[in-house]
Amino acid sequence: MREQEEFFLNAHEFGKNFTWGVSTAAYQIEGAYDTHGKGPSIWDTFTTKPNTVLNGDNANISCDFYHKYKEDILLMKSMNIDNFRFSISWSRILPNGIGSVNEPGIQFYNNVIDFCLEQGITPWVTLYHWDLPQVLEGKGGWTNRNIIQWFSEFTSLCATSFGDRVKHWMVLNEPMVFTGAGYFLGVHAPGKKRLKNFLPAVHHAVLCQAEGGRLLRKLVPNAQIGTTFSCSQISPYRQNNRDKKTAVLVDALLNRLFIEPALGLGYPTKEAPVLKKLKPYIQPTDMEDCLFDFDFIGIQNYTREKVRYSLLVPYIRAKIVKASKRNVPTTLMDWEVYPPSIYNMIKKYSSYPQIKKIIITENGAAFKDSIDGEIINDIARVNYLQRYLNQVLKAKKEGLNIHGYFVWTFTDNFEWAEGYYPRFGLVHINFKTLKRTIKASGKWFADFLSRKN
Ligand code: NOJ
Repeated sequence: MREQEEFFLNAHEFGKNFTWGVSTAAYQIEGAYDTHGKGPSIWDTFTTKPNTVLNGDNANISCDFYHKYKEDILLMKSMNIDNFRFSISWSRILPNGIGSVNEPGIQFYNNVIDFCLEQGITPWVTLYHWDLPQVLEGKGGWTNRNIIQWFSEFTSLCATSFGDRVKHWMVLNEPMVFTGAGYFLGVHAPGKKRLKNFLPAVHHAVLCQAEGGRLLRKLVPNAQIGTTFSCSQISPYRQNNRDKKTAVLVDALLNRLFIEPALGLGYPTKEAPVLKKLKPYIQPTDMEDCLFDFDFIGIQNYTREKVRYSLLVPYIRAKIVKASKRNVPTTLMDWEVYPPSIYNMIKKYSSYPQIKKIIITENGAAFKDSIDGEIINDIARVNYLQRYLNQVLKAKKEGLNIHGYFVWTFTDNFEWAEGYYPRFGLVHINFKTLKRTIKASGKWFADFLSRKN
């Protein structure tokens, strides 16, 4: 039985200093993939390869936010949304990854930022949301230690170009996902596999995470600097010792690998011995260079995972048991709908005394929306958001360290390897006409936010 839940939430129950917003990412929404001097990113390349993305989709046009940003920001404003998280496409401003700057790219982000501010919307900028310039991937991408210099150049350019107006920054988006899916499983760009790619990518991302923080601190006065992590509650599939131990290992890999080195706790090698293989990539002062005192950390939670011991899986002997095999309610991503996961994650990260502030920088769900002319009745999404928010409120009332919540995502967009099939938006997009229509969930969120005070 589900515990009795109260769904008539208002934003004001979370207190007046709670931050509310929506999250997006450059490659997923912008389109204009080769407009005004933009260089190709690894996702532009990956999507041209056969059998990488469902239905052969790509984001060459996507939502065309590049041309429609004003319409979208005005729509946001009409929905009472006053914080907008977006990312900078590295190859739009530095087509070769480093070196010559593409001025129209800088101008585009200046326009977005200025228009947000004119409308009373605070921009929250993610530096890296997975779209590495292809030129840099040609030199090994995240597996090449020179990424630290490349990333520093990109970060400095963003900080000096936008830091006079942007005061909320996130360095990386979900490093576990872009290294794991991109450099180990090969299901995301650049499609690389194997530990020999994954491990250096991990270590270099951990170093960039801290270096990016330091550069922003130096170059942007009064900045709030964070970085974001994917996280899921990890539970044993069966209540036996092997599955329980497996759950601890998977938790170390999925939920602790990137945050703990930044906090001075090193890599969680005790629980995940495979991480001992990181050693050859670690140079003498690296573990000090991994440290950074973030003003906040963003956590992004959607589901929980159940894991079991499996002899068949090399290195970790662990396997995720798909939600579809567990007879539980799921979203279109086959992610279990399990609201207590978000509460448990807030609790988990609140227990690190070094973390100053936690913000949910993503939460949301893909469902099949029912469309009846102008009415998009996505009641399942309304339900999902309300139930997860109820758990966030519970955490807040218990005094846990939670200060904000961003919905993933504003408009339907390109969901990476799943293409356009899973729709996560509060606003529907007709990808043929690019028409935007606010869904029932968008109307509900607007109403929820209207009762902030
Ligand atoms: C995490 C990622 O940051 C975002 O890009 C993605 O679309 C959502 N989660 C949903 O999968």
